[in-house]
Amino acid sequence: MKIAVYPGSFDPITNGHVDILERTSPLFDKIIVAVVHNVYKQALFTPEERVALIEETTGHLGNIEVECFKGLLVDYLKEKDASIIIRGMRSLTDFEYESHMSMINKKLLPEVNTIFVMADSNYICVSSSGVKEAAMLGGDVSSMVPTAVTRELKRKLEQLSAK
Ligand code: PNS
Repeated sequence: MKIAVYPGSFDPITNGHVDILERTSPLFDKIIVAVVHNVYKQALFTPEERVALIEETTGHLGNIEVECFKGLLVDYLKEKDASIIIRGMRSLTDFEYESHMSMINKKLLPEVNTIFVMADSNYICVSSSGVKEAAMLGGDVSSMVPTAVTRELKRKLEQLSAK
């Protein structure tokens, strides 16, 4: 069984992430979207909320599993019997960060390979952090994220402003 892992923060999932999954889903028997639980990074959505949003927006693909993970990515890959990491690439800045990360992962686990998928030109400028900032300041982000994310961003911002 060909299993790939698509790791990331996904805080929240964007149309760019969904597009990467739609394009890679036919290439693998199963893709595990691994939502990193990083205690050092302040997130807007809890890991469980992020998992639920990814499940809701990728259910149509049929071979996507979504889980949280903590710790080293290569340990998670071993546990899942996977040797492919999927990462999206938007820019030269992404290239520097991503190539460094893929080399570290390969040093840690030589059989692992990272495949990079170039972002669709419609989503080059879309990032989770940009979406959050724009939404916080009242911007309409509905062209950049799935409908479920627009809904949950609105709910989250209402909760935060009620505090
Ligand atoms: O969406 P992001 O925040 O760019 O994803 C980064 C992620 C989660 C892929 C990366 O931080 C990661 O793999 N974290 C797990 C810890 C780890 O294995 N680090 C060593 C590889 S650099």
